[in-house]
Amino acid sequence: MAKKITILTSKGGSGKTTTAVNLSAALATQGKRCLLVDFDPQCSCSDWLGYTDAEEQSFILDALLGNADISDGIQQTYLDNLHLLPCSMHLFQAETHLSNEIANDTLLSMALEPVSEQYDYIVIDVTPTMGVLAYNAIYAAKNLLIPVETSYIAMRAIRSIMKVVELMQQRRDDSISIVGLLASRVDVRQTSCKQALELLDNHFSNILLDTFINDAVAVKDSVAYGQSVICYKPKSKSAKQFLDLATEIDKRLTKSVKGKKNAA
Ligand SMILES: Nc1ncnc2c1ncn2[C@@H]1O[C@H](COP(=O)(O)OP(=O)(O)O)[C@@H](O)[C@H]1O
Ligand SMILES: [Mg+2]
Repeated sequence: MAKKITILTSKGGSGKTTTAVNLSAALATQGKRCLLVDFDPQCSCSDWLGYTDAEEQSFILDALLGNADISDGIQQTYLDNLHLLPCSMHLFQAETHLSNEIANDTLLSMALEPVSEQYDYIVIDVTPTMGVLAYNAIYAAKNLLIPVETSYIAMRAIRSIMKVVELMQQRRDDSISIVGLLASRVDVRQTSCKQALELLDNHFSNILLDTFINDAVAVKDSVAYGQSVICYKPKSKSAKQFLDLATEIDKRLTKSVKGKKNAA
């Protein structure tokens, strides 16, 4: 059964898509069979990896409604171990289409179930809007990775996302948990960034990951090449940081699965 992670924040531009594309590539490079699910109707992961054919299709929406089999939409990417479930702008209509469905935040979880055995990891990139899509992604993965751009305004978004997580735990599933906060777009030459890192360490040291991601030109440039930075500049510091992130996440999730088995 795949371990699943949703990359979540309520603030756009925090590095969600960058984390999703590079974390999934890092896991695949480390030998894990990985599915990247683009669950943001802005289709940023699909665009990045060059899968714009899905634009005309309403595939994910059909799969959520039980009218399509998710495995039919999965695409092979440039990496052997990495598959992509591309998105289309049709998902913008999800709020309307799913509004009358019973337990409408459990639909992604159900749709992914038939392919779950085929992967070690499923990584889900989601829209920053807190609504039915985000709730589906939270419930489907249960494990949440929250990238935080190291700026004062981005820090404020953490509290609101924590509140959403808390409510999902109370109302839907108490096994939903935050795997880690990831300091992203770090530039320690900037005083505001140093202050933000200190605040993160003071207030969230229990969930702050050891790994952080620097703001780097190589990361930005890799988008235009349709690859992760790990393939675009394998010897770069950024490539190493994303590989370290994959190792740290894998350790945390393996530990938590073992803990749950022992408790059972
Ligand atoms: N570590 C980084 N270094 C340089 N640019 C980055 C980095 N992370 C993200 N960016 C850039 O910041 C912008 C927003 O990132 P993105 O991952 O799309 O955020 P989100 O998905 O949260 O909206 C993009 O232009 C992206 O290329
Ligand atoms: Mg995005």
